[in-house]
Amino acid sequence: MCGIVGYVGQRPAKELLLDALKKLEYRGYDSAGIALVEGTQLFLAKRAGKVNELAETLSQKVSQATVGLGHTRWATHGPPTDSNAHPHCDCHRKIAVIHNGIIENYLPFKEELQHRGHRFVSETDSEVIAHLIEEHYDGTNLLEAVRKALQPLRGAYAIAVVATDSPEEVVVARAGSPLVLGLGANENFAASDIPALLSFTRTMVFLNDGELALLRHDRVELFDFEGHRISRAPQKIEWDVVTAQKQGYKHFMLKEIHEQPHAVANTLQNRYELSTGKIVLPELHGLTERIQNAQMVYLVAMGTAYYAGLTAKYLWREFFRVPIAVELASEFRYSKPYLDENTLVIAISQSGETADTLGAVREARARGASVLAIVNVVGATLTRESDATLYTHAGPEIGVASTKAFSAQLAALALLGFFIAQQRGWLSPAQTRPALESLVRGPALIEKLLQKESEIARLAQIFYEKEHFLFLGRDLLYPIALEGALKLKEISYIHAEGYAAGELKHGPIALIDAQMPTVVLVTKESVYEKVFSNIEEVKARRGIVITVTDQISKEIERVSDFIIEIPQSSRWLAPVLFVVPLQLFAYHIADLRGTDVDQPRNLAKSVTVE
Ligand code: G6P
Repeated sequence: MCGIVGYVGQRPAKELLLDALKKLEYRGYDSAGIALVEGTQLFLAKRAGKVNELAETLSQKVSQATVGLGHTRWATHGPPTDSNAHPHCDCHRKIAVIHNGIIENYLPFKEELQHRGHRFVSETDSEVIAHLIEEHYDGTNLLEAVRKALQPLRGAYAIAVVATDSPEEVVVARAGSPLVLGLGANENFAASDIPALLSFTRTMVFLNDGELALLRHDRVELFDFEGHRISRAPQKIEWDVVTAQKQGYKHFMLKEIHEQPHAVANTLQNRYELSTGKIVLPELHGLTERIQNAQMVYLVAMGTAYYAGLTAKYLWREFFRVPIAVELASEFRYSKPYLDENTLVIAISQSGETADTLGAVREARARGASVLAIVNVVGATLTRESDATLYTHAGPEIGVASTKAFSAQLAALALLGFFIAQQRGWLSPAQTRPALESLVRGPALIEKLLQKESEIARLAQIFYEKEHFLFLGRDLLYPIALEGALKLKEISYIHAEGYAAGELKHGPIALIDAQMPTVVLVTKESVYEKVFSNIEEVKARRGIVITVTDQISKEIERVSDFIIEIPQSSRWLAPVLFVVPLQLFAYHIADLRGTDVDQPRNLAKSVTVE
């Protein structure tokens, strides 16, 4: 994790770097720092805490520097202290380095370097990079020194380096952590992701693993780790700056919850023919044969994306004629699953940078399987490591707790399920049509649901001081119960557990008493009576029941303390609709508890370490 940014140009670097760091803060926010090249001096400021605290420390600092680096950290090696904050330096040559990732074999290098007289001041793995560069740097060729320093290092990294002896250069490199270059007029940038640079430029070049770049104000040059020059055309990024800002909402998360009608509509757009029921996904053409021959389908992902995969399994199973398994990418990778050229692995990831998901994909491809990625961030590593990519078009998601990316993933997975079924002849377009018609009503129905926000906020007011919650769902709403519990725990720090409603009596029922709130999801689309019985079981133990349902009946009213009504739809749309009030509920509870909603403690948006 961690966010990094580098700049070389004509503007004052200090303000620009702090601005970019604020946008990168979702990647880690336990400490922050910047380095500025001021003539022959290297100015360094770093401290534990958020970027705002760093900015405060620097408020009196006047700097003409037009070259510099910035870093916001999510600690792995060494606690979040001032000295462990980046940039790290070699004072001898005035070299500063920022790093996102982990250097796995740093210890022997650290010992060796200390032995040779290098003074280490941090507990991080990253500091070795600065000292190793110093060993190879003759004061003229920084790029070459970085290239040589990186040769023996193992692990994942994106780094940026400046040195006062090469005062008009920033050198960057990547192996396993994201890095994008921004091209401007007489200025150039590097950063961990696109939104950090959007207010400066939309012309970007994605660096691949095993590549370095030399940035000067008037040019950017790319090289591989052997030192060979590479050429790559820049891309125009369509995301606009406004979507990456809060637009009057108190938090990004709230704004992103409200953007779900658009996120779903954009993801569905131009990908179907409503008149025939045909699904049109030209981006998957390269995979047609593999899709047709697949004997086994794995869905792999982490976090919220994993719950999207789990939902797809429930939805697809009724018409798929091959087995489907859903696995956490971190487990899949090491559990030695049987994989061959007839296995289709579908990797789901908002960022496309999650280390565990990338690891699973690499393993799958190495063993002959084909990989289809569902990704939100354009040009992300996962898209380049997969055989084909189906983009969700949710736009930039900044809040650490995923919301609009999830509903967009559900929409993309619904389309993909129909697409695969049509390709295989399991469903004809005509048979798909009714489901498709219901799916495209999604954005309007989400819009309707969002109007219930004040009702849900009132409910949050009643419950925000509780310390425990249960979420129950069954069949296609089981993953949504898990997601509801995840949202609540992530941002409010309330202990919340999601369970399959049928599992209630095998353990969690022991937790029910008159204090315990249970959120139960019940849809007319599936096992309505069964879930109703599960509510009775909670009620019989005097539990507090909040029912979320698309079918209110007298019985439901009798056993529920509170009811949130969802518009009626179909199996295809119900998961998307049911998750919206759960997101709003978690959001308002967290807001009432005064937590840092967009940057909850200990979490990061994109987990680029294993
Ligand atoms: C982190 C985020 C989650 C996200 C998960 C997977 O844990 O906090 O919100 O669901 O990573 O991220 P991805 O980018 O692969 O979807």
